[in-house]
Amino acid sequence: MKEKKILMVCLGNICRSPLAEGILAKKCEHLPVIVDSAGTSAYHIGHAPDTRSQHIASINHITIGDQRARELTSTDLETFDLIYVMDESNYTNTLKLAKNEEDKKKVHFILNASNPGQNQNVPDPYYGGDHGFKNIFDLLNDACEAIKTELEREFNV
Ligand code: 4NP
Repeated sequence: MKEKKILMVCLGNICRSPLAEGILAKKCEHLPVIVDSAGTSAYHIGHAPDTRSQHIASINHITIGDQRARELTSTDLETFDLIYVMDESNYTNTLKLAKNEEDKKKVHFILNASNPGQNQNVPDPYYGGDHGFKNIFDLLNDACEAIKTELEREFNV
């Protein structure tokens, strides 16, 4: 089976989606999977992940400091096989870039992987304290575990 390209999407691409990228990439090291992330805004293009995301990643043995923020493009919707958004606003803005129904079907709320059908948001932690980052790490870790299990099933691993 062809390798799977997976994209994590949030607003700034400095807090939630870099963490989601790092968590899933680490869980899928044994699978033919490419994981990347992007933001629906141009606010932080070229910036490293927020230090609070880097910190919660590092205490969980995940390195994300070499990632750099970029803006989501309509080409991403063609290139990637699966696109996971963090919240409702990301969902709406990502779908606006889709050129056809096939690309729209690639876009999913990431927390539906762990809590199917609920369309729950990963809360935006940018203006909160460190506690918010522990919470989003736990939410994303559960979702990425479920995504990994599904990928292992698809790849027969
Ligand atoms: P993210 O968090 O979407 O998880 O990267 C945010 C980062 C920056 C801003 C908002 C959310 N901002 O308004 O600059």
